[in-house]
Amino acid sequence: MKRIYKAIFIDTPSLGQLRIYNPGFLTLSEDGKIEDFRQKISSDELIDAELVDFGNRIVVPGFIDTHTHLSQHAFAGIGGPPLLPWLHTYTFPQELRFNDADIAEKEASIFFNSCLKLGTTTVVAYVTSNTEATNIAFEEAQKSGIRAWIGKVLMDESAPIGLLQNAATAIEENEKLIQKWNNNVKLASIISPRFALSCSRGLMRAAGKQAAQFDLFIQTHLSENNDEILAVQKSYSECNSYTDLYHSMGLLGSKTLLGHCIHLSEDEKKLLIETKSVAVHCPSSNRFLASGSMELKRYLDEGIRVSLGTDVAAGFSLSMANEAKEAIETSKIFESPLQLGEALYLATHAGAKALGISHKCGWFNKGNDADFVVINDHAAHPLMQNNLMGHESQIEMPYNNPEHRLARIFYRFSADFIERTYVSGVARHILS
Ligand code: GUN
Ligand code: ZN
Repeated sequence: MKRIYKAIFIDTPSLGQLRIYNPGFLTLSEDGKIEDFRQKISSDELIDAELVDFGNRIVVPGFIDTHTHLSQHAFAGIGGPPLLPWLHTYTFPQELRFNDADIAEKEASIFFNSCLKLGTTTVVAYVTSNTEATNIAFEEAQKSGIRAWIGKVLMDESAPIGLLQNAATAIEENEKLIQKWNNNVKLASIISPRFALSCSRGLMRAAGKQAAQFDLFIQTHLSENNDEILAVQKSYSECNSYTDLYHSMGLLGSKTLLGHCIHLSEDEKKLLIETKSVAVHCPSSNRFLASGSMELKRYLDEGIRVSLGTDVAAGFSLSMANEAKEAIETSKIFESPLQLGEALYLATHAGAKALGISHKCGWFNKGNDADFVVINDHAAHPLMQNNLMGHESQIEMPYNNPEHRLARIFYRFSADFIERTYVSGVARHILS
């Protein structure tokens, strides 16, 4: 039997377009696809359907996190700037722990289930350079039911020996993971050279070739920190810029996600536009490591493709609602701040566009898979609780229209707000 969900729905069919159905009706087919999305429904239509009434709860598309590190989840919020000492002091020692399969399994299970608890239905994650740990991450993602792009970190330089693998071995082991996991419905391999400072020329080139061979996405870090940029310029003085280096290695294109992209020159931005590469904005991480602030609105105006990522553990929260808030707050230092609806777009639809799956998720489009989050922001204040099923509250709640509530969801976010997370129409998280 098909199911019809009733709630207050908010999504963003395009950047700047906040669509609110209050109430709305989302009809799902038995295979978890969106059959219909409307503001009204007749009683006849309910005869052959099961109605699930979420009352005054807010429902938004599942959040899409396009840059984060599974292996760093345990120490989010620990340490501080700047990037390069933070990597050596905190990150590499933690990633070494993933050489133990038991730790890799527990961490991966916690990570994917934490994503779902926070309303993230699609995540793009780096694991570590350890092939077995990456294989385990795929297994745990599959068990959790999340949609995930998962990458074995490729690195052959400037890190503890236990994290390094020579280029040929790394590419060979990566191929085994690709063969094993890449035809999965909800899972995909993503080619993940860490960044220029931990990869040799040979490894970067081989990574670009492997992505082209299997038609896969690539993720890496670009232009995050001034010391990093100087070191890259010194090592690769034959290139015009950091971005040009990646271009010459075959790493740019419409299937490339570049974390940070903060300090780009005009020429570098042009290269991103020409190659249709995606700049992944990571505002909480940029603030935590004092890396700088990406001029988001300008990038969007200039035609750079942008999506949003938590970048845990430099990003201190795995919550995309928090990241949406950080995107708005960071944008206030520049001329035109990001609007609330634009922040929702970045946290949902923009991620789907970056991954080429906006025909599958990111917004309430007929034919898409039903990835959505049921949110009870009334958990923010006990007096609001009896508003939930549409009953008259004894005390009227101030600032309670859907836009106010979306702002509350972002700014006062708590995991208690997320009552249910659905992927392809299946509840993968139910708040207990
Ligand atoms: N650059 C290279 N590796 C990393 C990482 O793990 N986190 C961040 N924020 N930047 C990086
Ligand atoms: Zn990162």
